Amino acid sequence: MSTVETITQSIPETLSLRPAASEDNGADQQSRQEEPYRYAHLLPQFPRQEHFPPLTPFEHVDPGARALSHANPRSFLDGATSVIELTPNLGSEIQGINLATLDNIGRDQLALEVARRGVVAFRDQQDFIDRGPDFYLEWGRYFGRLHIHPTSGHPEGYPELHLVYRDANTTFNYELHDSITTTLWHSDVSYELQPPGLTTFFLLSQPTTGGDTLFTSQVSALKRLSPQFVAFLRTLKAVHSGVEQANYSRAGNRGGVVRREPVEHIHPVVRRHPVTGEEALYVNRQFTRRIVGLKREESEAILRLLYDHIDKSGDNQARVKWSPNTVVIWDNRVTAHSANVDYGELKQRRHGARIAPQAERPIPALDGLDLDK
Ligand SMILES: [Fe+2]
Repeated sequence: MSTVETITQSIPETLSLRPAASEDNGADQQSRQEEPYRYAHLLPQFPRQEHFPPLTPFEHVDPGARALSHANPRSFLDGATSVIELTPNLGSEIQGINLATLDNIGRDQLALEVARRGVVAFRDQQDFIDRGPDFYLEWGRYFGRLHIHPTSGHPEGYPELHLVYRDANTTFNYELHDSITTTLWHSDVSYELQPPGLTTFFLLSQPTTGGDTLFTSQVSALKRLSPQFVAFLRTLKAVHSGVEQANYSRAGNRGGVVRREPVEHIHPVVRRHPVTGEEALYVNRQFTRRIVGLKREESEAILRLLYDHIDKSGDNQARVKWSPNTVVIWDNRVTAHSANVDYGELKQRRHGARIAPQAERPIPALDGLDLDK
């Protein structure tokens, strides 16, 4: 029996994860050394009674679109002390900007910059992190309606904050233990009708090394393919499913809670970014299940080809190495990412929070592609 199952059964009303101060367990030395844990109020909770109705459609207005008309849409970076491009086509690392004090014009520009670069790591964001959960929500709401994750843990009273959590004794992440790798490329909750766009993620606690986050550009991935094949892909749409993720929790993992019934939605295989106009491949191994209208073998062969392409194309990828007080923001529409659980044997805590504003229903690159039949 896993630790998660043990905890789930012993605390039936709500699964609470508190610092294990009283446990005399060698594996928990780190927790005791760190007591009291500074972010104990942001530890994952899994209230048993929590249940939410299906999400409803809404109109998304992308803040990045407003920045297009600015004379210098990158002026929010004027005070930066360092702007490094991690790779030519994906990823930047920026120092000297305080995200917490950006005005609305700066936030609009930020959205455009992230859409163009795919992922941006902002270092030295202690002010942002110190402002706490109410600020996190305000920040996220500027960019869209906040997504509430159907299965992950959240801080007490803040279901809009998705937490990743692993320590010496427990994991509340989606981790498959029968695979030869922990790499699992995905776009967050792509099964939703309107999946998240500009996504903010930061660590409250991190291992001394390891736990980097891997990113890949789905724009670059598409550009590598032949024009003839891309033309075919533009005609396709695929089913994305949240069922397996929900079943993972229903099996007693990750806190064992499903707070909203899982959904499946059909999205274009090639989507167009509403602000930049760039086309991106939009399938991922974690949530995409089949291509609509193709025979099973055809669908499997094409998806396998695309997943293999995403997996192995290091030339489309960037890797963010975490340092304390880093805030990473990515555009979930044009990138995919993977956790990297290489730090398990360190028995150290990794505790992160994600703010995921929903964006538009994916726009097909092919005008007129009917997603409703
Ligand atoms: Fe993710």
